[in-house]
Amino acid sequence: NWTMENFIELEVEKIRNQVQDKKVLCALSGGVDSSVVAVLLHRAIGDQLTCIFVDHGLLRKNEAEDVMKMFREGFNINVIKVDAQDRFLGKLKGVDDPEEKRKIIGNEFIYVFEDQASKLHDIDYLAQGTLYTDVIESGTQTAQTIKSHHNVGGLPERMNFDLIEPLNTLFKDEVRVLGEELGIPEHIVWRQPFPGPGLAIRVLGEITEDKLELVKESDAILREEIKHAGLDRDVWQYFTVLPGIQSVGVMGDERTYDHAIGIRAVTSIDGMTSDWARIPYDVLEKISTRIVNEVKHVNRVVYDITSKPPSTIEWE
Ligand code: XMP
Repeated sequence: NWTMENFIELEVEKIRNQVQDKKVLCALSGGVDSSVVAVLLHRAIGDQLTCIFVDHGLLRKNEAEDVMKMFREGFNINVIKVDAQDRFLGKLKGVDDPEEKRKIIGNEFIYVFEDQASKLHDIDYLAQGTLYTDVIESGTQTAQTIKSHHNVGGLPERMNFDLIEPLNTLFKDEVRVLGEELGIPEHIVWRQPFPGPGLAIRVLGEITEDKLELVKESDAILREEIKHAGLDRDVWQYFTVLPGIQSVGVMGDERTYDHAIGIRAVTSIDGMTSDWARIPYDVLEKISTRIVNEVKHVNRVVYDITSKPPSTIEWE
C-alpha cells in the first residue's frame, strides 16, 4: 500500500539510478516545492547536489538568512547564495508598470542563474519542483492572462540540462506531507504562498530601497501578530502593501504627512477566488498600533475588504 515513506524510498532509488555519479543543480527559492526537492535530492545523492539561491532583494525581512541557515546548517546542503540585490534594483529603477516589473525580474532571474550555472562545469541535471497541477495546467492556457505569473519555469528551455522532477505526480498537500516526513520545519512546509516577483509587486509603482523597507518592516509585524494570534493556518495569505499615497496625520503636537500601509489578508482554497479574512478587531488593532509606532514614516493603516473577484489578491 502507498505511504509517504514508501514514496521517499522509491524516489530516492529512482534518483540514484538516474543520476549515478553525475551532478545535479537546483534553483532554491525557499518555497515549499523547491525546498522539498532539494531535501529529497540531498537524501538521495548528498554532495552531488548543488543549489543556487538568488537573493533579488525583494524577499521578506530575514528571509534569505533564514533559508540559508536552514539548508546549510540544518541539512548540510551545498547552497550558493547569489547576492543580486543591486542588479535587480538597478534594472527596476524608474519602472512602475506591474507587468514590466514581472518581466524584468523573471528575465533577470534567468540571467543570474545562468551566470552561476556556467561557472559550475560538470552539471548534467536540473532538479525542479514541478507539481502534478503544473503538468496539467501547462496544457490548458487560459484565453486571457490577467497577470503573467512567473516563477522559475522559464529555466529548462534555455539550458542544456536533463530534468529531474520528483514531485510531478503529487498535489500541493501531498508535497507538504512529504516535506514533514523529510524533516523540513513546519514554518516552511506550511508557508503561505509568496509570489516570484516578491515585494516588487507590493510596492506599488516605482520601487526604491526606502519603500521596500516600509513593506518589509510592516509585513514582519503583521506576520508576527497573525502567528501570535494563532491565525497563520486559517488565513490563506496575508501581507502588507505600500500604495504610495501620503496622508496627513498628527503625532504629539506635530502635523505629519506620511505613508499609508495596506493590509491584505484572505481566505482561499487555491488562490483563484478569495474572500477577505475576518481577522478579529483586537488583532487588527494591535497590528495597526504596532505598525504606526514601529515603522517610521507610516501614519495610517488600512484594511482591504474586497474579495476576488473583482479584486485580485495582490495589488499589482
Ligand atoms: P492574484 O493577485 O492574481 O494572485 O489574485 C493569486 C496568487 O498568485 C500569486 N501571484 C504570483 N505568484 N508570480 C507568482 O509566482 C507572480 O507574478 C504572481 N502574482 C500573483 C499571489 O501571491 C496569490 O497567491
